Amino acid sequence: MSLSQAITDLLWDALQRAFSPAPLTRDCLEVTLSTQVQFGHYQCNSAMRLAKVLNQSPRNIAERWLNALAENALIAKVEIAGPGFINIWLHTDAVTALLTMMTIGDHFGSPTANAPRIVIDFSSPNIAKQMHVGHLRSTIIGDCLARIFEHLNFDVLRLNHIGDWGTAFGMLIAYLKQHQPEVLNGQQHTDLSHLVSWYRAAKKCFDEDSDFKQIAQQEVVALQRGDPSSLHAWAIICAISKENYQEIYTLLDIRVTDRGESFYNPLLADTVSDLTAKGLVTLSDGAKCIFLDGFSNRDGEPLPLMIQKSDGGYNYASTDMAAVKHRIEVEHATRILYLTDVGQAQHFAMIFKTAELAGYLQRDDITVRLDHVPFGLVLGPDGKKFKTRSGETEALIDLIHAAIHEADRLLQERGLDLSAEELHHTAHVLGINAIKYADLSNNRIHDYTFSYERMLRFDGNTAAFLMYAYVRINSLKRRANIDSGLYLAAPLQLLQPAELELGLHLLRFEEVLQQISRDLLPNRLCEYLFNLAEKFNAFFRDCRVEGVSEQNARLHLCDITARILKTGMELLGLKVIDKM
Ligand code: ARG
Repeated sequence: MSLSQAITDLLWDALQRAFSPAPLTRDCLEVTLSTQVQFGHYQCNSAMRLAKVLNQSPRNIAERWLNALAENALIAKVEIAGPGFINIWLHTDAVTALLTMMTIGDHFGSPTANAPRIVIDFSSPNIAKQMHVGHLRSTIIGDCLARIFEHLNFDVLRLNHIGDWGTAFGMLIAYLKQHQPEVLNGQQHTDLSHLVSWYRAAKKCFDEDSDFKQIAQQEVVALQRGDPSSLHAWAIICAISKENYQEIYTLLDIRVTDRGESFYNPLLADTVSDLTAKGLVTLSDGAKCIFLDGFSNRDGEPLPLMIQKSDGGYNYASTDMAAVKHRIEVEHATRILYLTDVGQAQHFAMIFKTAELAGYLQRDDITVRLDHVPFGLVLGPDGKKFKTRSGETEALIDLIHAAIHEADRLLQERGLDLSAEELHHTAHVLGINAIKYADLSNNRIHDYTFSYERMLRFDGNTAAFLMYAYVRINSLKRRANIDSGLYLAAPLQLLQPAELELGLHLLRFEEVLQQISRDLLPNRLCEYLFNLAEKFNAFFRDCRVEGVSEQNARLHLCDITARILKTGMELLGLKVIDKM
């Protein structure tokens, strides 16, 4: 149970006693962290809200309420401030005891039997195209949420819904057959950047040359029919693209299972029949459409979700409907997250509504929860959508290497006492941590501005600041040169205000993760860790560790701090280093 829950329990108990039989519910009660030290450790402003229900002044309510508060070991002092704010101080002994009992889960443990299944659909680039910064955001945020749910003992299925099917493949295959047969027969190895330019050339031929257009269209048909030579060409194109994505995943330490759109091909016809049988489908100009209340286009006309085109072909929405069904019926998902930019919000709203109407979300006695987890754009220094000088969206791999390069330069400038090899390793970790942290520390809904200079700063809410705090704790432990068994056995003592503050903050870790499992905002964890590093620095400033009688108790507190900091950073997908 979290600290704020425990406090809420006590207050709720008192509230009922003070005002029964008034019809009150527990959710009228809210306990939050105090915004300033002089307002205690926690505060409760619910007397304001209760004033209407109870028809009394908030101050009177607060007085009567607190008089009914039972003796307990947790709350040391309460105070009514202003019109009826309640400030709460906790017993140091209680905080110390809770901290002593706190266990820090290890997040890579495999889920226990019966752990609820959550599907996280993230990254999901498109074959024969470069992964762009939008996919980078999806990858970083999706991986972080996956790590957090794993830590919370969910059975996480990480799915890469790669765009690996569609009419565009006809063009590319036709072009490669004509112009690059060595690539298709395996005589010549190539990479994604070549594919991208051939794709462009193919598109040009398609638009300008009606013969080519016809051949390309026949290729689509052949591919759909499962013609071996077309399928082979398709597989080669996919393999080349995936090599490129894999390079990025390896660099960023991302695990994800490829399950592209093509996986659902065999399920599409049945899905469309099922939706039709359920009376959801309307024919509109020959296309099979689902009209949903509340969805309209810019002109206010009803906007349908098209699940089969008039030529019988399927599209993005058909695949997503089949995927929801499969993930629930076959994968037994109890929750599904989709990470894409906010531009796809309407698409997912329509997919989710259709799934609900089709009854897909009811399985056994649960209702499956679907969440679109949208995020904003990545902006360049000019405040416009992030592009490189050439106007092309920058290849991601270059972006990541540039961050590592910048990190290397900055570390050299700082003249640290590191060997060449250590410096290289540190720059690598710092560069990648910085990219991830810059993304995660912003509320994902907002656009964020990409800046190497800002993301690599050592001060403020940055990756380097957290890494440095971790290094500092470790060097403190090293310097003390005491066997860890010894200080870990020392009873914790939270004597100074800075120690109590740090202890209180450490206790909140799991609470923050629980909150993220509800609102899916990783920036909460960044903020938590930033505050943790600050509180540790305050402790380090105010409390001497080495050579004092509290030494071992303080080393013990440092150790817990280091463990939470490391676990938290790992949940963000960051790596820690021991020296910096
Ligand atoms: N490939 C898509 C894109 O790049 C993202 C796919 C997201 N997932 C899904 N199930 N639709 O925009």
